[in-house]
Amino acid sequence: MNESLQKFSGQYQTALQDYLADEGEESLHEAYELGRHAVAEGLGVLDIAKIHQQVSLALLMPAFASGKGKRQAHAVEGFLMEALSPFEAHHRGFREANALLRELNETLEHRAAELAATNRELSHEITRRKASEEMWKRYESIVNTSREFLTLVGSNYRYEAANDAYCQAHRKSREEILGSSVEDVWGGTAFWTIIKGHLDHCFSGEEVHYQAWFEVAAFGRRFFDVSYYPYQQKTTVTHAIVVTRDVTDRWRAERALRESEEQFRTLMHSAIDAIILADSDGRVIACNQAARTMFGRAREEIVGHPLGLLVPDEQRGARESEINRIRQDEPTRLIGKTVEMHGIRKNGNQFPIELSLASWQTESGRFYCGIIRDITERKRAEEALRKSEEHYRTLFNEAKAMQEKLRVLSSKILHAQEEERKRISRELHDEVGQALTAISVNLQLLKRKAAKADDGLDATVAETQSILEQTMHNVHRFSYELRPAMLDDLGLVIALRWYIKGFAKRTSIKVNFRADAGVEQLQNESKTVIYRVIQESLTNVYKYADAERAAVLIRWTGDGARLTVKDNGRGFQPDQLDLSSREKSGLGLMGMEERLRLVNGQFAVKSAPGKGTTIRALIPFQPESDKSRSIKPGS
Ligand SMILES: Nc1ncnc2c1ncn2[C@@H]1O[C@H](COP(=O)(O)OP(=O)(O)OP(=O)(O)O)[C@@H](O)[C@H]1O
Ligand SMILES: [Mg+2]
Repeated sequence: MNESLQKFSGQYQTALQDYLADEGEESLHEAYELGRHAVAEGLGVLDIAKIHQQVSLALLMPAFASGKGKRQAHAVEGFLMEALSPFEAHHRGFREANALLRELNETLEHRAAELAATNRELSHEITRRKASEEMWKRYESIVNTSREFLTLVGSNYRYEAANDAYCQAHRKSREEILGSSVEDVWGGTAFWTIIKGHLDHCFSGEEVHYQAWFEVAAFGRRFFDVSYYPYQQKTTVTHAIVVTRDVTDRWRAERALRESEEQFRTLMHSAIDAIILADSDGRVIACNQAARTMFGRAREEIVGHPLGLLVPDEQRGARESEINRIRQDEPTRLIGKTVEMHGIRKNGNQFPIELSLASWQTESGRFYCGIIRDITERKRAEEALRKSEEHYRTLFNEAKAMQEKLRVLSSKILHAQEEERKRISRELHDEVGQALTAISVNLQLLKRKAAKADDGLDATVAETQSILEQTMHNVHRFSYELRPAMLDDLGLVIALRWYIKGFAKRTSIKVNFRADAGVEQLQNESKTVIYRVIQESLTNVYKYADAERAAVLIRWTGDGARLTVKDNGRGFQPDQLDLSSREKSGLGLMGMEERLRLVNGQFAVKSAPGKGTTIRALIPFQPESDKSRSIKPGS
């Protein structure tokens, strides 16, 4: 037994002794206090019972021995009951507390169940709210991403909601707009003349749609498509949902389209060429007046009909292959590429046309535009031109042939002229010269006889002799000039020297003459050309130049001769000579040129008033084998 139990056991014994002694209320109360004390100390009922048993046995033994045991046992029991009553009270209290606790627990459980339900509801509510917040955010972002103006206007014409686009367009914050009136935002004129009437319609329950120009701070004057949708709460329209769309660009595009359509119509109408539009099946969908006139058909006789109607049967293949060609030729344009074919009028007459086709693809299929020109006149003109060209070509060829003949002829004439001169020269020399020589011999005899007669006849004869001598001299000179025998016998240079000497003497013009001996290699024909050119040039110097000096130079280059005849006379303007008129211009220069051409040479005149005249000629050397190339005189 521990210390506290021992102590308690002693106290219990004392108290029970006291009670057994007097059985008084005070001692009994002591038993109660001991019981309370035991409860407080944490002693159990069994501890008390054990202590009681030991103490009561010890105390009751003597009593039983004295015969007072029965009564005392009864008192001991009463004492024990009293000592146990705090335990009883304690136990009852415990039971009550337990019952209370159970009750409390039940209440708590009930509350916990309630709380769990509430919790569940709350979490549902939170989820719902989150979802609706998310939804709200989405709607908000949709509304604010929209480029259309979205607002909610109350029946007092004041804004209750506006999206970002709307605020930005007016360069105002949302706070500035919300609560302000439509009139504040759009201005009095727009509100009273346009907006209010439409809003009132909406408040009366109707959907309203209209388009109008409005001024907005951010973009200036723009064209808007406006819709008002009534917003109803129960049966009353409390708000107007306003959706405003900037359609300026669309409006402009539509206007541009209208204008372009108008231009197209005007173009179609005023075009001289026929214009026909057809769909992908080749069916005409539009045509202009020119097309109707060209094909002699009314609009309804063309539109809706296949294109083939306008083309003769045998040409249809060509037209279709053209369309196929265009169809494959992506993307669209073939303008400028034309085909010529035939069209057919309503009366069956065929006529030539020029067709240029273009094609383009649209969502509703491929379209073709044919521009058709009636080329009847052009064809006629082309034919006339072709004929006239042919005619002129024939004339030209004839002229060329004629020229060739003339060239041959002039060559023959020049040759014949040379031959004739040679013949006359020979005749003059042989016949006339011989006859004159015979006359001269006879005159010599006559003179001698006349001297004897002394009748003055000798003087007459002498005079006749002198005339005859002069005549013989002249005949000799004529004969030489016609065809210098020297040219053939002694060569070009000597013949020229002799001629130039005589010219200088006759005309008193100083002529400087130099010639390379190589020129003698030239063919006779070329040498004659040189001789005649010099002869004609010097004659011109004498006739026109009024010159003091002249120079004749012939250079031999190995492959030909270069001839220059130069004077210091008054000169002239070669380009102003009227070669077409025989009266105004002689044949000298032309003749020289012609002679040179016959030997494949070149000829040039350089002269100017006051600057003298220079004639240049180039005479090529043609070896015998080459000679066939030039046109021989007399050929
Ligand atoms: N050396 C020259 N100096 C000045 N004028 C000249 C000279 N040579 C030619 N002419 C001018 O050129 C013109 C044409 O000369 P060209 O020899 O062709 O014909 P022509 O002498 O008048 O006639 P033709 O030679 O037939 O007798 C001459 O009329 C003259 O006006
Ligand atoms: Mg002349």
